[in-house]
Amino acid sequence: MTTEIFDKRLGSRRTIDRSGVWRFREHVLDIDESEIITHPEGGTHLYEREGILFKHEGENPTGSFKDRGMTVAITQAVREQAPAVACASTGNTSASAAAYAAQAGLRAIVFVPSGKISAGKLAQTQAYGALLLQVRGDFDAAMRLVLEASQRLGFYLVNSINPYRIEGQKTIVWELLQDLDWISPDWIVVPAGNLGNTSAFGKALVEARDAGWISKMPRLAAIQAHGANPFYRSFRENFAQRHRVKPETIASAIRIGDPVSYDKAVSALRATDGIVEEVTDEELMRAKRDIDRMGIGCEPASATTLAGVRKLRAAGVMHKSDRIVCVLTGHLLKDPGATSEKLIEIDPEISEVERVLGQ
Ligand code: F0G
Repeated sequence: MTTEIFDKRLGSRRTIDRSGVWRFREHVLDIDESEIITHPEGGTHLYEREGILFKHEGENPTGSFKDRGMTVAITQAVREQAPAVACASTGNTSASAAAYAAQAGLRAIVFVPSGKISAGKLAQTQAYGALLLQVRGDFDAAMRLVLEASQRLGFYLVNSINPYRIEGQKTIVWELLQDLDWISPDWIVVPAGNLGNTSAFGKALVEARDAGWISKMPRLAAIQAHGANPFYRSFRENFAQRHRVKPETIASAIRIGDPVSYDKAVSALRATDGIVEEVTDEELMRAKRDIDRMGIGCEPASATTLAGVRKLRAAGVMHKSDRIVCVLTGHLLKDPGATSEKLIEIDPEISEVERVLGQ
């Protein structure tokens, strides 16, 4: 009853119809509408700046694209009567899992690399009531542990190896294609860590083409940080072998050395004539500052996209006339510590203001 009144005030649109994920529900999950657990999420904006389009997934309820997959995974967890949900995370998956589990009344247990995730993500995860376990080790160690724990203790795993997550994340691509009136861009550029999103984007594009929604296949460009670049290394060898690295990068969201969705991501790249590029921490932080100064803002991992475009343009792989969509995966406030502007402190005197402005 309350929900009905609320929805009427928002223009007679029900919560599920306002969700950028469940709008596409026929192609996401076959389920009775009453069982859907949605915030809602999605419906994020596409911004044009300097001839490049930016899809800002930081506008999702918990500030990252993870909400798109989580609404589906948590809906499925409830349907399967899971006793608890679990994930390993560099911070965004855990924040999203914690929020949706709280909404569903489910217990959430999350495993994060100790001391390696940003304060904002840690705060969200705890505030939403998840049990947060800081694992002494990197993300890959946390991932191995959650796999074992889920098997042994019966947790429902909500990492992106869960296929329901991928189904939800496909809608990032469909939504941006719809915003472009189903005229494909030349490139869709995405940060690459555990490779769930790269996999989801490939699946979304293949399904869009097979359904006749688009006539031309955009090319995927997956961008990694130089210090966490196992997918880039494999790409350079035409995927002859799978690489694993000891990850190190300032972009903590993608500090991942052994991505779990490797195989699906390789398929996504092959299906879209895609490429993988790497950028240094310096390059991605410069791009982050520029995205921030465009009035959009994002967390460091998201800025690999613009850094990658700059590198690929310089190499002649992308052209000035190409239509490019960069997917910004997380909000600026996720990682405020990554903003390097210096603070100015003054006494409450007008002469102080004049002094600073005169400098
Ligand atoms: N960007 C952000 C902001 C992320 O949080 C992640 C992944 C990625 C990009 C990479 O996406 O893993 O699908 O290739 N974050 C995960 C997490 C690992 O635990 O929050 P991917």
